[in-house]
Amino acid sequence: MTESRPTIDTILKRKSIRSFRPDPVPEEQRRRILEAMLRAPSAGNQMLYSVIEVEDQHKKEELARSCDNQPFISRSPWVLIFLADMQRMLDFFELSGVHSLVESGAAESVKAREADLLLASCDALIAAQTAVLAAESLALGSCYIGDVMENYEFHRDLLQLPDYCFPIAMLCLGYPTEQQQRRPPTERIAADKIIFTDRYRRLTPDELRHLYDHNIPRRPRFVDGAKNIGQDTYLRKFSSPFMMEMRRSVKAMLAHWS
Ligand SMILES: Cc1cc2nc3c(=O)[nH]c(=O)nc-3n(C[C@H](O)[C@H](O)[C@H](O)COP(=O)(O)O)c2cc1C
Repeated sequence: MTESRPTIDTILKRKSIRSFRPDPVPEEQRRRILEAMLRAPSAGNQMLYSVIEVEDQHKKEELARSCDNQPFISRSPWVLIFLADMQRMLDFFELSGVHSLVESGAAESVKAREADLLLASCDALIAAQTAVLAAESLALGSCYIGDVMENYEFHRDLLQLPDYCFPIAMLCLGYPTEQQQRRPPTERIAADKIIFTDRYRRLTPDELRHLYDHNIPRRPRFVDGAKNIGQDTYLRKFSSPFMMEMRRSVKAMLAHWS
């Protein structure tokens, strides 16, 4: 099997970029990246996702605030929101008269279920990552914003989302500044703790203790109250205000979805 060197190099060199040159992304480049994105695999080729390009500067600023106050969002030349989208399929079913199949007992009721949300989220995220790599290959940098899952009601109104669309990820894209280009890539957990053969392997206490040691140089001081990197991670991430809001927001969306 032949391997495409430039592609693997692009993947290996990628890192998140959070500071962009002000240059806009030319229309031709945007279209090529979106064309590549549309080639992403999708469950049953149903393409249960939609993408919103955010061009309105006021909306970018609103998103910078609503996505855990990350100002670089509003300074990003190109912002894409990836929606897990069951609405289009439900509309299609309605137009196709699927209700008559239900009434005749030939099919179950038409509604968006939790499994549909997971499948649509898979489609949306695979499309997003395809866009990331296509952008990278054209010298653009990018950064995911997971906080777009927060403030469900606000984002629904801001983007005029119908009932069965959920913003699963946002991407900020643009040309990296020199400083960002020079920044070394982040470290990863060692492969033997992530990739297994034939069966799952739970890590030993010693492996767990040192799992995130590679992050210590970037976090020389733990947050108040944390005695080790596990407690620091828990306080910073899993019990942080943004995580509380994400949990609330996703729960509100799920209550509505199901
Ligand atoms: C689902 C997801 C959500 C993320 N959300 C954010 C975010 O809200 N803000 C941010 O600055 N980076 C965000 N990131 C980027 C990660 O912080 C980044 O990928 C990670 O630290 C590894 O660094 P690298 O991408 O440079 O290798 C997100 C990444 C993913 C995959």
